[in-house]
Amino acid sequence: MHHSSPSSSPRFLTKSMDFIVFLNIEDLHVPCSFPFFLISFFHFLSDMKSISKSLIFALCCCTFTMSTFHVLGENSPEPEPVPFLLSCGGKEITDSDGRNWIPDGEFLASSDSRDDTEAATAPYPDPLLPSPVPYMNARIFRSSSTTYKFPVFSKSRLWLRLHFYPTTYGDHDPFRAYFSVAANGITLLNNFSAAVTAKAITQAYILREFSLMPVVSGDLNLTITPCKESYAFINGIEVIPMPDIFQKPVAIVGYRDEPLDLRGSTLQTMFRLNIGGEFIAPQEDSGLTRTWYEDLPYLSSTSIGATSRANKDVTIRYTEEVTADIAPLNVYSTARTMGPYSKINLKHNLTWIFQVDADFTYVVRLHFCEYQLSRIKERVFDIFLNNQTAQRGADVIEWSGSMGKPVYKDYAVFVSGLPGAGEIRVELHPTISTTRKLNRYDAILNGLEVFKANDTNENLAGRNPVPSEMLTNAEEAYKQHQASGSNVEEMVAGGVASSAVLIALVVFVKKKKDNVSASKTVNLLPIDGSSHRKSGSTGSFVNIAAGLCRHFSLSEIKNGTKNFDESQVIGVGGFGKVYKGTIDGGTKVAIKRSNPSSEQGVDEFQNEIEMLSKLRHRHLVSLIGFCEEAGEMILVYDYMANGTLREHLYKTDKPPLSWKQRLEICVGAASGLHYLHTGARYPIIHRDVKTTNILVDENWIAKVSDFGLSKCGSTLTQTHYSTMVKGSFGYLDPEYFRRQQLTDKSDVYSFGVVLFEVLCARPVLDSNLPKEQVSLADYVQHCQRRGTLRRMIDPHIKGEMNPECFKVFADVAGKCISDNGIDRPSMGDVLWNLEFCLQLQENPGGVDMANDTHIATLSVDEEIVDDEVYSPRLAPVFSMIADPRGR
Ligand SMILES: *[C@@H]1O[C@H](CO)[C@@H](O)[C@H](O)[C@H]1NC(C)=O
Ligand SMILES: *[C@@H]1O[C@H](CO)[C@@H](O)[C@H](O)[C@H]1NC(C)=O
Repeated sequence: MHHSSPSSSPRFLTKSMDFIVFLNIEDLHVPCSFPFFLISFFHFLSDMKSISKSLIFALCCCTFTMSTFHVLGENSPEPEPVPFLLSCGGKEITDSDGRNWIPDGEFLASSDSRDDTEAATAPYPDPLLPSPVPYMNARIFRSSSTTYKFPVFSKSRLWLRLHFYPTTYGDHDPFRAYFSVAANGITLLNNFSAAVTAKAITQAYILREFSLMPVVSGDLNLTITPCKESYAFINGIEVIPMPDIFQKPVAIVGYRDEPLDLRGSTLQTMFRLNIGGEFIAPQEDSGLTRTWYEDLPYLSSTSIGATSRANKDVTIRYTEEVTADIAPLNVYSTARTMGPYSKINLKHNLTWIFQVDADFTYVVRLHFCEYQLSRIKERVFDIFLNNQTAQRGADVIEWSGSMGKPVYKDYAVFVSGLPGAGEIRVELHPTISTTRKLNRYDAILNGLEVFKANDTNENLAGRNPVPSEMLTNAEEAYKQHQASGSNVEEMVAGGVASSAVLIALVVFVKKKKDNVSASKTVNLLPIDGSSHRKSGSTGSFVNIAAGLCRHFSLSEIKNGTKNFDESQVIGVGGFGKVYKGTIDGGTKVAIKRSNPSSEQGVDEFQNEIEMLSKLRHRHLVSLIGFCEEAGEMILVYDYMANGTLREHLYKTDKPPLSWKQRLEICVGAASGLHYLHTGARYPIIHRDVKTTNILVDENWIAKVSDFGLSKCGSTLTQTHYSTMVKGSFGYLDPEYFRRQQLTDKSDVYSFGVVLFEVLCARPVLDSNLPKEQVSLADYVQHCQRRGTLRRMIDPHIKGEMNPECFKVFADVAGKCISDNGIDRPSMGDVLWNLEFCLQLQENPGGVDMANDTHIATLSVDEEIVDDEVYSPRLAPVFSMIADPRGR
């Protein structure tokens, strides 16, 4: 077979494997594919310590050359071009990373089976798809089992990636597709529904990655079998040779006996996270095209620790053991630690939680690299997997030998539980030393992967996830709404079906609330609208949102607001007026009615619906529904009984908020903004953070509102905002004027102004004051330089404020309003510091450690300026605290 080979991907000659194996070069940890082979030899060369190794090397080179001749001379079958990237049901196409995808037709085993399939095209690209290739085409398997045959001969493992985009192909309902997939007899997916799975994880597409065992004889057969009365589909298939990263036996946590030998097992990648760092796209992973995600959604919210990045003066280098095959260097150059405050660290575990299928064995691979500390016993911690000790006294420097050297550790754990309901908890806690007093109690993690191993029945398939009740209810409501073929108004008018809808809707709204308040910091509620869109949609965004939030009729809105009576107005913004209202005979809501004359409104309306429908968080205002009728654009939100933060700060007859209440509101708002910046796949910049956009509900829970101006980071580069200044004066990032560019640090700046507004309880711009005091941001900076900030504190709270708490608060707020974005902390760091403030305020004496006087007596000041512990190598968030006097 002849296929054009992908230009940017590593080519792989099957025969080259032979002499690598023959030379036993694997033992030297040289990866298998040709270019890596050479590169690794250079690494190897630079690391060589003994003459004997040079001898081996010389020998290798020599044999290598001979083998090359040997291979070329032999009348061998022509080497197959791998990787294979199949665009199923599509044409040959190059994706945006320059990878070439070829049609799948000739890989189908026989023409018979091809006849039972059809090529199909997706009706529209979901905005959440990472790229149109390979998702916009699909092959549909109508009923019988069909096999793809890949002529690979590989002594290395293979990565198999399966891509699914559940949408309506022709007249095939995505929710009717249930099928199984097997590779050379191993069941990979069984009774699998891509639509249900995608919905449950709020993705538009599903990507499954498996590590298959070497195929040393015959072909790689991939069999797709639709379930009874169902059909199957697939959009893309990748078959890529991979370095063997599963050679070492892995100790099973909780069992002393035999370690797990993975060499005979097929594995599925479950999670791959760049801990404390950013998303790493496939093309940034050295030709191995792995995707590394952010870890924040998996962190347990009790303590999110602190993220950091290696300073430029620390070089992170691969070792013989850890090469680019294991992870890209980017993974090792960022980390999450518990933070600089030992006594707080001792009270918590740094915890990540993963939902997995029960009744399987999982391999948890933890990646470490120490770039802040250089000596052993400086950061020693225990690692727990599912409440069992996986490792005592982990010391990254002791493992790696020095700073900047990465290491990884594998632990296997068997997950039992109810079918489909397993979880993996990875917990880190500082080791409490009995023999020697440590001056730091902390833990670190840089990267994490979770792989599932096939069970003894050669099966890897789990159950389809159960979408949350809230989604099911919303979907039901939507379906009935569709079935009745009318708008909500008519349904309300009569009929049994309509009351069912209303009940469902009420349950939906209620469930949503319950669900949200049950979660703490990061709440990725499963929301996905793609499955509700109909094919041939005319692009009306109503379809986008209809499955997620309620569609109101204009008369419902009019009834609820006394026909937009002025007495109901609770706010006026650029968009229009906000009314207080009621729906369903009593539920209080806030109703935002666009100003019919505002042209910008249409975009912002659509933007806000799309944005809010996808984003759910305890500290973001929830959208309940919308109304698009007779030219009206109306949004319906949860009612925030206590109004805006500003109306509790100044120029008000409301009682002043206590300092603790203010701190809690700031922590909540920071958490909402942090979620916007990191919780979605692309950072979302709020662009108009101010005290009137931070609302407070009846329980004094802060919620960030007004996403009309928000934009996704991904579109930022294309759409320049230089033409129109948005946001509010007094809060606007000065860097924005210089560089005409909004970043997440612009929100951090505005939030810093909010923090000072909360501290000082005065307007951000007050033209009645002397000139140098008009701008709050300028004036507090001036005061901070002169050390007079204390005088600015709102007299109502001065007395109750803990001085340490004030110091941390003022430091972080001051950093937020730094002139240059690069000097400002991330929203996550701000959140961390505010949470710390709150702890200091609530618990000023600190933690008493009965057996450890050192810690008990360590004041925050000492801890902060302990140079030995906090060397200048630390990342910005720490240096910010480490040197409160500024640079
Ligand atoms: C940390 O996790 C381990 C294992 O689950 C548990 O035994 C321990 O109590 C936890 N420690 C804290 C401080 O939460
Ligand atoms: C996976 O299946 C193979 C047989 O194909 C078996 O030898 C191996 O033990 C299985 N792995 C596990 C972890 O049970």
